[in-house]
Amino acid sequence: MEILIFAGSTRQDSYNRKLARAAAEIAADQGAQPTLLELADYDIPLYNADLEARGTPPDVIRFKQALHSHAAWIICSPEYNGSYPALLKNAIDWASSPVKGDAQWADGVLPFRNKVVGMTSASPGALGGLRAQSHLAPLLLNLECWLAPRSHAVGLAAEAFDGQGHLLRPQDQKGMQAVIAQVLWAAQRLQAQ
Ligand code: FNR
Repeated sequence: MEILIFAGSTRQDSYNRKLARAAAEIAADQGAQPTLLELADYDIPLYNADLEARGTPPDVIRFKQALHSHAAWIICSPEYNGSYPALLKNAIDWASSPVKGDAQWADGVLPFRNKVVGMTSASPGALGGLRAQSHLAPLLLNLECWLAPRSHAVGLAAEAFDGQGHLLRPQDQKGMQAVIAQVLWAAQRLQAQ
């Protein structure tokens, strides 16, 4: 089973990018094929409907294709001001519109519909970005994702990783393993329908 993993941060030393890399290792340990997507590799402008009307930018199409071609996703979101960052919202807003004029897909495909998504977060604060998750969850459900009931928040993230980026605390390892196992379990069953 392929699983797409991405962080809502492009910061060099981002805790959420570390969490995404740790998630990819856990997913591989569980027999999945992880794809780590870096938002920094995509030139996604600030959303403007006029821009979209002139033609979806090539990197947005690439991003939508990456989302659409994976039945299972893990999102690692930072928390900004009690919510998720604008970077993530902007990418999601661009990707959420039905596909138009793309040679690979039929018009009207919704890249988020029926994807199984595991929501995770990391923050230097004690709550680990839980408040970001409380805003991200309704957004994903609104886009018709199947949100895994398990989620995980890595608190005190400055002390959560070793020098190789592995999660140090057993509760974080177990929490991430549980989210990923649940996403893979559900995505396999949805795909079998
Ligand atoms: C933050 N940060 C933050 N942390 C938190 O736990 N709750 C919050 O509400 C906020 N708010 C916030 C607003 C803004 C504008 C910034 C820039 C930062 C701190 C944030 O968790 C920290 O910068 C993380 O390191 C960001 O995630 P990455 O980039 O390390 O993945």
